[in-house]
Amino acid sequence: MISRLLRYKNTLLFGGAAVWGLTLVSCVMVNRTIIMPPQVPGATFVGSKNCVECHQGITAAFADATHAKLQAPGENAKNIGCESCHGPGSVHSKKGSGYTNIVNPGKNPEMCFQCHLDKRGEFALPHAHPMGKVTCTDCHDPHKGDAIVSGGTQLAAANETCLKCHSAQRGPYVFEHEALRENCTTCHNPHGTVNDKMLKARNQTLCLQCHYQQQTVGGQLWIGGRDHAAFVQRGTCWTAGCHEAVHGSHVNSSLRF
Ligand code: HEC
Ligand code: HEC
Ligand code: HEC
Ligand code: HEC
Ligand code: HEC
Ligand code: HEC
Ligand code: HEC
Repeated sequence: MISRLLRYKNTLLFGGAAVWGLTLVSCVMVNRTIIMPPQVPGATFVGSKNCVECHQGITAAFADATHAKLQAPGENAKNIGCESCHGPGSVHSKKGSGYTNIVNPGKNPEMCFQCHLDKRGEFALPHAHPMGKVTCTDCHDPHKGDAIVSGGTQLAAANETCLKCHSAQRGPYVFEHEALRENCTTCHNPHGTVNDKMLKARNQTLCLQCHYQQQTVGGQLWIGGRDHAAFVQRGTCWTAGCHEAVHGSHVNSSLRF
């Protein structure tokens, strides 16, 4: 089998071209891509509709999920959403039960990596969530919605995902940092980065995305109404002894401890 890599939007997909061809169809795009769902010996794809009969709970909420849009190609194109992660379900569906004839990935990220190859790379970076203690489904519900809880009114819900494990960052703080009203991912990439604490940037660049910086003559660096030129030489904004309480402070409005 000849394997190859395809870059699909921001996702690297892996597959044996001769074996599987799936198409992701959505209202904004029609794109062809080659990916590799799990396999079940002797079984063929039957389509997500087939699963409804016995798994109503899961299928009901699945309709608008990103993965529900995965389809097998060809004239008899089937909506294979469920089977893209659980493998072809003909044998399982016919028998109406059985724990051996369908794939249950459980907490194992390998199945996800098969299509999201770039995520394997991110989790291998020096600072990442420890796989084993934390897994994909702790943050992504594979059976519901966008698989990413974010956007619009869901921002609070997105942070909630993080706060269920990181209660120390929850507050409430006497002096809040408004940056946390946005998303934890403004500053952290939860899949992993090269920087300590999974930060997206290792220096003041992280903070200057929002805090206007005025570079004036004479090497001055104006942030928040003060010349910071001498301060930034002492370290990052949060290690130089100035704004250690980046998530919020109980003692100081300038986010000191
Ligand atoms: C993006 C991948 C993915 C898709 C698509 C998907 N599932 Fe799952 N499913 C999983 C994972 C991962 C688990 C294991 C969850 C766990 O153990 O934490 C699971 C578990 C299950 C289980 C075991 C019971 C349970 O809740 O733990 C059933 C039944 C199931 N899925 C049915 C379905 C059906 C039906 C569909 C389509 C409507 C579907 N799945 C679509 C990934 C997926
Ligand atoms: C005729 C009924 C029936 C149909 C159709 C059916 N299932 Fe199941 N499935 C079951 C039963 C019964 C179980 C045993 C566990 C339970 O009671 O939830 C099960 C278990 C599962 C599990 C968990 C297996 C494990 O090892 O934990 C998954 C995943 C699953 N089904 C996926 C699917 C998918 C995907 C489809 C559609 C392709 C499908 N099922 C269609 C009846 C069915
Ligand atoms: C058969 C291939 C396949 C498998 C297996 C798979 N995915 Fe996906 N997934 C896709 C494709 C294709 C997309 C859409 C890619 C895009 O828009 O860039 C996608 C999109 C996503 C998104 C973005 C959703 C959004 O709404 O933008 C997340 C999150 C995701 N997958 C998580 C997972 C997780 C977690 C697993 C394992 C439980 C998994 N995927 C398993 C193919 C797969
Ligand atoms: C600690 C929580 C967390 C874990 C664990 C996690 N993710 Fe994510 N993931 C997120 C968040 C939050 C986003 C949205 C990122 C953003 O908005 O910048 C996301 C976005 C994504 C996306 C879509 C955007 C992109 O970066 O391509 C995919 C695909 C994805 N995750 C797959 C996975 C897979 C596969 C795993 C397991 C190997 C996984 N994630 C584990 C939190 C997590
Ligand atoms: C299922 C629980 C869980 C979820 C959900 C979770 N984390 Fe974590 N997080 C952990 C664990 C476990 C560690 C490793 C802690 C350690 O080794 O001390 C960690 C480590 C971290 C670290 C590095 C801490 C350090 O001291 O180096 C950051 C930053 C972080 N997580 C941010 C996030 C963000 C942002 C989210 C939401 C997108 C999130 N986490 C969701 C469990 C979780
Ligand atoms: C404005 C940027 C920013 C935002 C937003 C942000 N963090 Fe952080 N976070 C940081 C910085 C900077 C550090 C490193 C602090 C240090 O090393 O002293 C950090 C460190 C952490 C740590 C490691 C423990 C610690 O306190 O040092 C965890 C866990 C963490 N953040 C979780 C979160 C969670 C959960 C959210 C969302 C509720 C979040 N962060 C939002 C900038 C941010
Ligand atoms: C997502 C945007 C955003 C990011 C990123 C961000 N901040 Fe903020 N920060 C704000 C907002 C909004 C306020 C409240 C309005 C203001 O005072 O400018 C604020 C307020 C502050 C204050 C209080 C100012 C005062 O005394 O009133 C400090 C100190 C601060 N931020 C430091 C940091 C540091 C350090 C970082 C990097 C780790 C950072 N910020 C990253 C948005 C952000």
